[in-house]
Amino acid sequence: MSAGTSKIAVRVADVIKVNDLVTRFRFVRRDGREMPTFSGGAHTVVEMKDGDRTRLNPYSLMSDPADRSAYSISVRRDDVGRGGSLFMHQKVKPGDEMVISYPVNLFSLDLRASKHLMLAGGIGITPFLAQIKQLGHAGGNFELHYSVRTAALGSYVDELTAAHPDRVHVYYDDRKQAIDLARLLDGQPLGTHIYVCGPKGMIDWVHKTARAHGWPESAVHSEEFLAPQSGKPFSVELARSAKTITVGEHESLLEAIEAAGVEAPYLCRGGACGQCETDVLAHEGTFIHNDHWLTEDQRKGCKKIMPCVSRFDGRRLVLDR
Ligand code: FES
Repeated sequence: MSAGTSKIAVRVADVIKVNDLVTRFRFVRRDGREMPTFSGGAHTVVEMKDGDRTRLNPYSLMSDPADRSAYSISVRRDDVGRGGSLFMHQKVKPGDEMVISYPVNLFSLDLRASKHLMLAGGIGITPFLAQIKQLGHAGGNFELHYSVRTAALGSYVDELTAAHPDRVHVYYDDRKQAIDLARLLDGQPLGTHIYVCGPKGMIDWVHKTARAHGWPESAVHSEEFLAPQSGKPFSVELARSAKTITVGEHESLLEAIEAAGVEAPYLCRGGACGQCETDVLAHEGTFIHNDHWLTEDQRKGCKKIMPCVSRFDGRRLVLDR
């Protein structure tokens, strides 16, 4: 996907407060047609027009993949972020017209698995909501372990536990409850796949623990979209486009490239998919790599940057764009 392609013109049908931090949005097509099909784990990129600025943020689709009348997402408010979630919470109202991308799935279920062991932390529950509905239609075997800070901040806990009382296990941080991952991993049937979505620490912990217990990497799936970080403004020369741009304090390099009218590829906009990888032609300064795509060797080589999340601090950066 790249800017300008695969967009859906939508109207905001509902805005529903889930709890103090999370709000749910439901989108329907403006042309009255059905939404494109998607599978559990897919995300859409929501375009937010905020004055003369456009933000594009990825959100997991949480609605039933079999329901093509609408898409739903849940947005967790981040008071210290770059403003995308605040825009959604404070400015988006029912009836507003917006643009979202076609769905892309970077966190799909491996349907060859004999069982799907799902581990969610906080707002990381959203892709699992769609996956559980998908498995419900297909009769798939799953178990969800869901860690939340408090009962008041546990999004969708009641509906999940009511629908699947034997399969959903909730852990409350403020009650000092924690997932006993080692025990959980030891008791799984052959052919089980693990899926984790939540904070970075949780994802790293699951990968590390699974590796230590002999699980193959191919059976451990994770999704974490990193939010681009704010930082010192810097300028960049785009060699192919013959343009010099400035990346603002609260802007990502990818957003600055797009704002200059230069087409740039992306899928996740969160440092995870590799789609935006861009060649560095020259540099004098230091890269601030925030992605989890480039290898250590690639970072040391200073020949690549992931503009969706990474920044630069220095005198000169020239990109092949
Ligand atoms: S768009 Fe996915 S890593 Fe940048």
